[in-house]
Amino acid sequence: MTKFVTLRRPDDWHLHLRDGEMLRAVASYSSHFGRAIIMPNLVPPVVTGAQASAYRDRITAALGQKMTLRPLMTLYLTESTDPADVVAAHAAGIISAVKLYPAGATTNSASGVRDFDKVRGVLDAMAEAGIPLCFHGEVTDPAIDIFDREAVFIDRVLDPIRRATPGLKVVMEHITTSDGAEYVSANDNIGATITTHHLVINRNHILAGGIRPHYYCLPVAKRETHRLALRRAATSGDARFFLGTDSAPHPDRAKESACGCAGCFTAPNTMSILAHVFEEDGALDRLEGFTSLNGAAFYGMAANDDTIRLVKRDVPAEYPSHIPAGDETVTVFDPGFPLYWHVEDPA
Ligand code: DOR
Ligand code: ZN
Repeated sequence: MTKFVTLRRPDDWHLHLRDGEMLRAVASYSSHFGRAIIMPNLVPPVVTGAQASAYRDRITAALGQKMTLRPLMTLYLTESTDPADVVAAHAAGIISAVKLYPAGATTNSASGVRDFDKVRGVLDAMAEAGIPLCFHGEVTDPAIDIFDREAVFIDRVLDPIRRATPGLKVVMEHITTSDGAEYVSANDNIGATITTHHLVINRNHILAGGIRPHYYCLPVAKRETHRLALRRAATSGDARFFLGTDSAPHPDRAKESACGCAGCFTAPNTMSILAHVFEEDGALDRLEGFTSLNGAAFYGMAANDDTIRLVKRDVPAEYPSHIPAGDETVTVFDPGFPLYWHVEDPA
């Protein structure tokens, strides 16, 4: 029997599109999304309104005229970010949010924040202007085990900042633990993105039976109990939880190396995987909230006007295992099961 689900066009509230040749290679794979929050961790990072505006133009050019995706830009917060530039870029409609990377937490985070007191002025100005702060929520203290870094971040950094700046609207990006899900569902003025891959893999997928670099991302996938907590949060209908794929393409050469970098490239098959996951959990009726309604409401935007349709067929959806990017290839995330849900996009 053929099954259908019609959804308001989904949005991706956390996406890496990169720049140059990689941008041109990956942009079209996100084109069935209405809007996407674009991460600013380029080399060098996007730190001023003028840079965000120029980057947006490069993305729009790479997307071409047929594609509907609207890039929502962010600034990369540094210890020398000027509060006035942030507020002006937001007032001019150039940026939708600011991203905070603790220095050293992940890919291209070297210019991130070491001393959180140094960004207090920017955070106060953002609270005042209603600009959301997107957090990479992991401590970088080498004494903290990598599997505990999200939970420790909540106690040491996130909660104190939220108490010091109560009006600040915060998104805890790509939560990976029950601690993250519980903190978000117990508080207001906070939302959380959940990635597609963290709903599918746990740490065994990365490490048992051989190291699988294409499942390595940050925050790293945790044990199974945490994956199940994320599934419950995503399918709960709680509007604080919404999709941010964190689709993060890297050349295979850089991932399949003695020191492989973090990131899963999920843009090409995300919606098919999510339909599978939500159906498996008996929550297909809540998929639209997660992908198309909750994030927009959090950011104070209307849901997209148009729709896409997901159709479950007897034959699996086809997607490439790799895509070319200049002289490189990028591996597409393999969920480990066939995807019978196909995306039909009238646009
Ligand atoms: O896995 C990740 N990849 N996590 C991040 O926080 C950054 C991202 C990237 O830019 O590659
Ligand atoms: Zn990311």
